[in-house]
Amino acid sequence: MRKLCTFTPGAIWPDSNGVHINAHGGGILRRDGVYYWFGEKRAAQASEGINVYSSPDLYNWQYEGVALPPVEGDPDHDITRGCVMERPKVLFNEATGKYVMWFHLELKGQGYRAARAGVAVSDTVTGPYEFLRSLRPNGNMSRDMTLFEDDDGTAYHIFASRDNYDMRICQLSDDYLTPTEKDVVIHGDHREAPAVFKHEGRYFLITSGCSGWKPNEARLDTADSIWGPWTGQGNPTRGPNAETTFDSQSTHVLPVEGREGAFIFMADRWIPGNLTDSRYIWLPIKFEDGRPVLNWIDEWDLSWFDENTGVG
Ligand code: DGJ
Repeated sequence: MRKLCTFTPGAIWPDSNGVHINAHGGGILRRDGVYYWFGEKRAAQASEGINVYSSPDLYNWQYEGVALPPVEGDPDHDITRGCVMERPKVLFNEATGKYVMWFHLELKGQGYRAARAGVAVSDTVTGPYEFLRSLRPNGNMSRDMTLFEDDDGTAYHIFASRDNYDMRICQLSDDYLTPTEKDVVIHGDHREAPAVFKHEGRYFLITSGCSGWKPNEARLDTADSIWGPWTGQGNPTRGPNAETTFDSQSTHVLPVEGREGAFIFMADRWIPGNLTDSRYIWLPIKFEDGRPVLNWIDEWDLSWFDENTGVG
């Protein structure tokens, strides 16, 4: 397999075996100099658990296997085969030395009505992860979600609640395994697909609207405290197809290690008829007057940040 040295948003992204990466709605964790990409393993439609890939450079990805497979032969299990596992995110907990995965879980045969969060844990980054439980944080519905770890090690679960009308944020326990009662509504504007990042002491939240697999316009919110108030800043995307987030939906914003102020916006271009084939839209974030802006780029590499980091 030829070494890759650029990002090509929307193209087929082969892993080191030459197979299109199957890690949708994903997120990335960096540990010991290696990036780990966790995402939904999808058949044409079916959910097949959570995949994990590793990379030293963000361009070349080695398939590490299924980090959390669905359970076989136990129809009453929360993650029995046929359930839907979406938008996994993994954090490392320094105090316990454990890797903690949260994901959106829909129970088998219930469409999107269960609206739960699943929690799994592992001693090793690539797993396999042990499923602990599923829950509704403080009794609230939980669909599209992300995790965010602040500089002080406090972690938060950010999730679409009340049939996607509310975006909530809930502080996690010190071991990251359970929700705490510190839990507020960020806004009630019917948004999903949250991605959170922090730059120069400010918090940034990118979300999508709610239109199923169809793309729509992204929105940026900012706050000086993670608890808000969060203020809407409009659509951060620019140029042709900005009204559909370049035909994609946010999933994660990745701080690039060793490059202050360098962030990659990660999104999914869903192909509902064949979810396996859904594409990855990764674009560099430019700061203009402190405000994140996204422009389409056909092909780019990390040297983009040499010219553009800290602009504005
Ligand atoms: C939109 C969500 O963002 C996706 O993760 C997925 O749940 C689809 N809806 C299903 O229609």
